Amino acid sequence: MRIVSGIQPTGNLHLGNYLGAIRNWVRMQDEVAASGGLSLYFLADLHALSQPHVPAELAANCREMVAALLACGIDPDKSVLFNQAQVPQHAELQWLLSGTARMGWLSRMTQWKDKSGKKGDSQSVALFTYPVLQAADVLLYQATHVPVGDDQKQHLELARDIAQKFNNDFCTEDAPVFTLPEPTIPPEAARIMSLRDGAAKMSKSDPSDMSRINLTDDADAIMQKIKKAKTDPEPLPEDKAGLEGRPEAANLVGIYAAMAGTSVEAVLAEFGGHGFGKFKPALGELLVEKLAPINTRFGELRSDPGALDAILRQGAAKARELAVPTLEATYKALGLLRG
Ligand code: TYM
Repeated sequence: MRIVSGIQPTGNLHLGNYLGAIRNWVRMQDEVAASGGLSLYFLADLHALSQPHVPAELAANCREMVAALLACGIDPDKSVLFNQAQVPQHAELQWLLSGTARMGWLSRMTQWKDKSGKKGDSQSVALFTYPVLQAADVLLYQATHVPVGDDQKQHLELARDIAQKFNNDFCTEDAPVFTLPEPTIPPEAARIMSLRDGAAKMSKSDPSDMSRINLTDDADAIMQKIKKAKTDPEPLPEDKAGLEGRPEAANLVGIYAAMAGTSVEAVLAEFGGHGFGKFKPALGELLVEKLAPINTRFGELRSDPGALDAILRQGAAKARELAVPTLEATYKALGLLRG
């Protein structure tokens, strides 16, 4: 097994990232380390260029994000942890795959459609071609499994389409260059929604901080955000079917289940028939209890930027080595001369 995944270093790590992806990164890191496989996790800092950004903040955000990942349990002795910008092979492979990716495929990406809206012409080229870089990120290392939240599924399907077309167009059947990666999506936390709107996903780009729980929030902020979270006036139902058409209630129950490591049914067996006046404080306390150790560790780690830079530097050196064989095979398959 070869696990690869990334996160954009823009803003804080929030509960959606944690439950949708990072918890799985940690679990899979331990599984593959035990079975002799390898996991690679990176900060997608090159992806951050697809949207307006403040250069002075990017390096600081990268350090914050790497501290957050370490605090969640990513272990640089078990996983290769790095930032894209120190591994130029990502951008190189992106260009080599750009001849294979089709305009129509990229135009159909829902993230492109959502973010570009009616203003497609004024968006950066990077926002449009972003999924090709994402394909390069995983294909470069022959990823077999990519732990992500549901919102990245379409990008992973595109990576498979690009890999398949490249293998068909440029390789013999018995010697394909690329492995087709599988997304690994946690069923209980595939899509954590905003605390203010059950129809929007929890996101770092939401202007309201009340819409998300950040892993850096203290106990007071967590309790306050859960208290203010949007709900409906009905008590919680006794079974899962009763959550149909109640997106805010379903989201809070789902968060509780994912955080407690139990099922939605088990949560409803305990809280069904009770109002949010009882459920919300219990959820807030559970979040505070589970996030406190991460928060403390994060505080310690972020105070030593030199150590964080060293971790990224070492991870990047390893990643550059691992990237060479696939990149060379790609150049060769395309008929490009290489010395
Ligand atoms: P990003 O930085 O938006 O999110 C990082 C991870 O968190 C997951 N996630 C969520 N899961 C459940 N509920 C939510 N509300 C939620 N919000 C975010 C995302 O699905 C993701 O797994 N394009 C990617 C970064 C990337 C990448 C890659 C991922 C670049 N190259 C290669 C995998 C493989 C992104 O912007 O994720």
